[in-house]
Amino acid sequence: MESSGLNSKSKAYYEKQKVYEIFSRAEDYPKKVETFLKKNIKGEKILDAGCGSGKFLPLLEELSNTYIGIDLSEEQIKKAKTKTNKSNSILQVGDLEKLNFSDNSFDFIVSAWVLGTVILEEKREKVIQELKRVLKTDGTIYLIENDSTGEFEKLRGHIKRTKDYNNWLIKHGFQISQRLETDFWFSSLEEARTVFDEIYGEQISRQIRTEKVNHHILILEYKLTE
Ligand SMILES: C[S@@+](CC[C@H](N)C(=O)[O-])C[C@H]1O[C@@H](n2cnc3c(N)ncnc32)[C@H](O)[C@@H]1O
Repeated sequence: MESSGLNSKSKAYYEKQKVYEIFSRAEDYPKKVETFLKKNIKGEKILDAGCGSGKFLPLLEELSNTYIGIDLSEEQIKKAKTKTNKSNSILQVGDLEKLNFSDNSFDFIVSAWVLGTVILEEKREKVIQELKRVLKTDGTIYLIENDSTGEFEKLRGHIKRTKDYNNWLIKHGFQISQRLETDFWFSSLEEARTVFDEIYGEQISRQIRTEKVNHHILILEYKLTE
């Protein structure tokens, strides 16, 4: 465990930028998360909290007047900057535990596969507090997280951990908005195994049988009403 509160697997995400780009491209290949976001988001100001290399940046820019992406990693922000199409978008290195925005700033906050990588509960609590603080009244936070079912969590041996974590989010005021059944879809079995080997190790990668890895996703929401 690192002092940042990230586990070593999460650190790998930005130490192995190229691998993570392939992982990210393959993740939810049918774009079911994007379909959900298109249907549910139309906002003035959107915060992409833990935007990484900008997987959802082009879509969230389209769905908002002002897009702001924040991430701890300078490398990821650099990569995300290459995907922006709007001159008023802001991409900044920053810590979600201490956001540099006033209360009541955002119509929508999207945070995809971020909080689950923060292992220390007290750090997660701080991030949630900050996200709620900068959310406008009548605004919505969407968290995109792994569901505990599906092949992906089974392969990683994370079924219980993910179930506990998702219940923890529900205790912190989030509700399940949608369950999605989707897939990672790599260009070949070899690519799937190489990427999983780099991120999760050989033992896990050896269990992959095809270029598709079934993946169940939860979208959780928090609405701030007066
Ligand atoms: C698994 S990646 C997901 C990235 C992106 N949302 C996506 O869907 O591709 C998790 C990201 O969360 C970021 N992150 C974790 N804790 C953070 C914090 N306290 N403040 C800002 N970013 C954080 C990491 O740097 C990493 O880029």
